Amino acid sequence: MDSVDLLITNASELLTLQGSKTPRIGSQMGKLSIIEGGSVAVSEGRIVAVGRRLRYRAETTIDATGKVVMPGFVDPHTHVVFAGSREQELALKLEGLSYMEILKRGFGIFSTVRATRKASPAELLKQSQKRLDTMLRYGTTTCEAKTGYGLEVKTEVKLLQVQRKLAKTHPMDLVSTFLGAHAVPQGMSAEEYVSLVIEEMLPNVRGLARFCDVFCEKDVFSVGQSRRILLAGKQLGLLPKIHADEIVDTGGAALAAEVGAVSADHLLRSSAEGLKAMARTGVVGVLLPGTPFCLMMQQYAAARKMIQLGVPVALATDLNPNCWTENMQFMVQLACLNMRLTPAEAVTAATFNAACAIGMQHIVGSLEPGKQADLLILDCPSYQFLPYHFGVNLVETVIKKGCVV
Ligand code: NIG
Ligand code: FE
Repeated sequence: MDSVDLLITNASELLTLQGSKTPRIGSQMGKLSIIEGGSVAVSEGRIVAVGRRLRYRAETTIDATGKVVMPGFVDPHTHVVFAGSREQELALKLEGLSYMEILKRGFGIFSTVRATRKASPAELLKQSQKRLDTMLRYGTTTCEAKTGYGLEVKTEVKLLQVQRKLAKTHPMDLVSTFLGAHAVPQGMSAEEYVSLVIEEMLPNVRGLARFCDVFCEKDVFSVGQSRRILLAGKQLGLLPKIHADEIVDTGGAALAAEVGAVSADHLLRSSAEGLKAMARTGVVGVLLPGTPFCLMMQQYAAARKMIQLGVPVALATDLNPNCWTENMQFMVQLACLNMRLTPAEAVTAATFNAACAIGMQHIVGSLEPGKQADLLILDCPSYQFLPYHFGVNLVETVIKKGCVV
């Protein structure tokens, strides 16, 4: 009998998410490739086998009878590295101020920029580490992290260096995105700032980030300005991502398709044309239901329409000081209860499709031989409990690269 490091046995449901190697669309999103009574064998941090009766001698065996075993959540959109907090903005929101009105008064992103510029790398590291610890406890084993609270060369670089340190020292797999174009700094015109991003920031962050993102929005960066930034980033090897059509439909979804973005995120107001263009070009739609939730908005992204049109849908927390949650289980709950995804679609969106949104689908996002052993044991008998038993942490055990964390 071969021996392995770890054997997890007899899960009531083993969600393998085995299937196509490309982002799942349409009815594929509802297929989790479940093995009932399933086991997983792990060696040297990788999955060796999945199946019903696995014959291995194991150093450690975990009995998962009555429990769900699934891939770790992938959170493909976070702003996890920031300083300070914005709890006082709830009072403004309750008075009826919108997200953009709060920003225009010099709060919102600008408050966080002031705090983040002041914070030392050590302070940022400590605060972000704590958030990554929480994410891990709630089952996120891979995440993306954006910059965007510097809005000046030196702080943007500082944020990427903190991210690099986190990626090296924390068990979480962390992929970096440069979001220099997150807001127009006070006292500068958008055009002036776009030139600074393209001419000074991009050459300095090259090699430190995998993606380049832009907040393409009315009164922030126009489609034209966003295009220039994303294409300049692409020339330096940074793959495009975009905050698109969150508050106003400016044509962000269509721009994502045009520049070959890996993902377009938010998409609350996107037109059918924009979504169709994304479907044609395979741009992943990353939906962030925590944001409309904490802004007390009635409208969520049209997830059902996206799935019907063939847009691969993913879920993320958007973790930032406006929408502060580390919890992907809550995103699954909001996706089902407020966007009418089925539980199976939401699980695909929070694992395999989320991995596709950050180019990590070859390593994580499903439980298949050869892939990294990032998996969760849930204290419930079926994945359908994820949106059903809400507001608690259903994750009992987190296994990262084959080790219980
Ligand atoms: O994705 N909308 C732009 N950026 C972030 C929020 C950042 C913030 O408010 O600090 C988002 O929601
Ligand atoms: Fe965001």
